[in-house]
Amino acid sequence: NHVPVAIIGAGPAGLTLAHLLHLQGVESIVFESRTRKDVEETVRAGILEQGTLNLMRETGVGARMEAEADHDEAIDISINNERTRIPLTELTGHKVAIYPQHEYLKDFIAKRIEDGGELLFTTTVDSVENYEGDLAKVTYTEADGSSTTITADYVIAADGSNSPYRKLITEDGGVRARHEYPYAWFGILVEAPKTQKELIYATHPEGFALISTRTDEIQRYYLQCNPDDTPDMWSDDRIWEQLHLRADSPGITVSEGRIFDKAVLRFRSAVTEPMQKGRLFLAGDAAHTVPPTGAKGLNLAVADVAVLAPALVRALKKKDTGLLDSYTSLAVPRIWKAQHFSYWMSSMLHAVPGEDHFATQRRFAELRSVLESQSGQRYLAEQYVGRDLPRFEV
Ligand code: DHB
Repeated sequence: NHVPVAIIGAGPAGLTLAHLLHLQGVESIVFESRTRKDVEETVRAGILEQGTLNLMRETGVGARMEAEADHDEAIDISINNERTRIPLTELTGHKVAIYPQHEYLKDFIAKRIEDGGELLFTTTVDSVENYEGDLAKVTYTEADGSSTTITADYVIAADGSNSPYRKLITEDGGVRARHEYPYAWFGILVEAPKTQKELIYATHPEGFALISTRTDEIQRYYLQCNPDDTPDMWSDDRIWEQLHLRADSPGITVSEGRIFDKAVLRFRSAVTEPMQKGRLFLAGDAAHTVPPTGAKGLNLAVADVAVLAPALVRALKKKDTGLLDSYTSLAVPRIWKAQHFSYWMSSMLHAVPGEDHFATQRRFAELRSVLESQSGQRYLAEQYVGRDLPRFEV
């Protein structure tokens, strides 16, 4: 049994890659340890950059996103209850869409199934071997307990930030750069009308709050919290008190309703270099993690596979591995720029624990310096809407 490309993980990186390969006539098999229901229901971030939107549209998976997503032309930044609008589209010509990651995944899963692609849920990969030889070997176990070994020209580990395959690269001369942040987000889903159409990134001496949305009836809010907080430390009363304190501003009152989901999101940065060894490649969170501020994670995963897909097609169809050999060097500069943007926004918007008056006022001043300058606003907007995806002929 042989497959050209074996993909571990049915997240944004794995599913997008399988779809792009299929469009170029290269078949793959995708292994996912979780159930389809789990994958389709896990709550994650919700911003698609213009490049990601374009890719969905151009490759025939954009119809539902087009119809259902909120397409936003601005964000608001609120400092100590004073709001400034950043007109993203006016400044950059680009928009973003609020379309949750699990909706993105649903669309790609449906498309993969419609196209007859092999997508195995509840299937664990037990081993990847011989990836430095002339054919890799992948052994996997399905839900019924049956175990199979196949050969693959290439294996892509797109199995998220705990990928066990990353070690195969870092243990042997690779580098894993990490950064921990002294804060986290407490995220809630609420049955409430929209506070306003566009997102509000709010900062306050007490910390950060983000007013996001899901539908006309369901809203997504986040509050800065401590990394070791648990949901039971956040009563509904405390949540509403802190959301109003941090994110209300003249003319805007955070809309309230029944809270039906509470979760703590960790803040981490990590970058793995290189992202490849022999026939094994890392994509998405398996290679790099960004903190949630700015919601770059999915978009970075899509950017990885925008390089990897044409590179694999050239290698498999034309026996030309030039692009594949350059995968890490093509992907990494963008990853570091996204790290920088997520870190920078996080540092301006969050209060470090025990922050003194000097530190609070300095970060407010940094943010105001950006917002009061046309070029500062444009810089922030350009980073927020993201860069075009790399394009390669195959
Ligand atoms: C959302 C998450 C983010 O990290 C962000 O920057 C904007 C929106 C969200 O989940 O809606």
